[in-house]
Amino acid sequence: MGTLMLTHINLGAKARHKPKGQPVGEERPWNTRQQDNHRWNNRDLSECRLQPICPIEGRLGGARSQAEFPLRALQFKRGLLHEFRKGNASKEQVRLHDLVQQLPKAIIIGVRKGGTRALLEMLNLHPAVVKASQEIHFFDNDENYGKGIEWYRKKMPFSYPQQITIEKSPAYFITEEVPERIYKMNSSIKLLIIVREPTTRAISDYTQVLEGKERKNKTYYKFEKLAIDPNTCEVNTKYKAVRTSIYTKHLERWLKYFPIEQFHVVDGDRLITEPLPELQLVEKFLNLPPRISQYNLYFNATRGFYCLRFNIIFNKCLAGSKGRIHPEVDPSVITKLRKFFHPFNQKFYQITGRTLNWP
Ligand code: A3P
Repeated sequence: MGTLMLTHINLGAKARHKPKGQPVGEERPWNTRQQDNHRWNNRDLSECRLQPICPIEGRLGGARSQAEFPLRALQFKRGLLHEFRKGNASKEQVRLHDLVQQLPKAIIIGVRKGGTRALLEMLNLHPAVVKASQEIHFFDNDENYGKGIEWYRKKMPFSYPQQITIEKSPAYFITEEVPERIYKMNSSIKLLIIVREPTTRAISDYTQVLEGKERKNKTYYKFEKLAIDPNTCEVNTKYKAVRTSIYTKHLERWLKYFPIEQFHVVDGDRLITEPLPELQLVEKFLNLPPRISQYNLYFNATRGFYCLRFNIIFNKCLAGSKGRIHPEVDPSVITKLRKFFHPFNQKFYQITGRTLNWP
């Protein structure tokens, strides 16, 4: 039996990601575009109080290009949606504003701990996107799936018909039945997969489970003991956190139903350090006009992550459960895992056409 002697490396640098191309700090100096945004947002805020009838067209008069107009209108309408979410709307108002609960046009199918929440929240900055806040677990949970598609639709947030709804449930990526079930709902749906370097993702996965066990005062094993089979000293492929990181194996199941063009791979490591270019690629994939800007994302040095700025008043960072400090892991185990994942990663790059420079 192999004994794991541990010399530790520190992977716990979560809160110290260095942002690229932007000064560190809570706020950045404003440029002209931001001042424009500021003016626009100030104007929006006063207009966004709930009205019995939405006077959008009249209020947004003035010279605007055709392409721009609907999005501006949606930006305005988002304020109304916010009111509705707070429960400030009657059925009559929902009807008057043409609000609907739409099935998603795109789903973030995984990967767990890849940055799925950050991606969803950041896409929700786009005026044409409305997120389903909760993980719905419709396609991976037999009981929920048995409740039927109308149940699923009713779980969706209210939106305007021109907007698209996006949901995320990371368990979809690894659950056997899901691709076929999603295909039956919409065979042309767009599928987003956010991935991180597989070993880091596995450690992040372990860290989440560990935190739950510690909270319940349960005993737990070290990561090294779970990830390496003590009998063979090889990587333990029965360990779920390892299996989930073999991205190509899961993707191959999906490809039996959907062509590769319907998937977009988001680099979760880059979303942490440099989110805007990743989001711009997603906007393109979803055929959305580019509306998320650097104004919407600011690096919060205390959190060590980018946070979201919707307007001059409303900012938010992700919850503290996102960006945990990882435990230290034996470097020889890390090396072994990276070697193990390497051929699967090569295949993943080849299938998806996206090369991520993982070690
Ligand atoms: P760690 O906790 O390992 O750092 P998911 O939402 O799929 O569970 O992914 C969680 C991961 O999202 C976190 O993993 C964190 O690194 C990453 N992440 C990416 N962008 C983030 C952001 N802006 N704020 C917080 N966490 C972010």
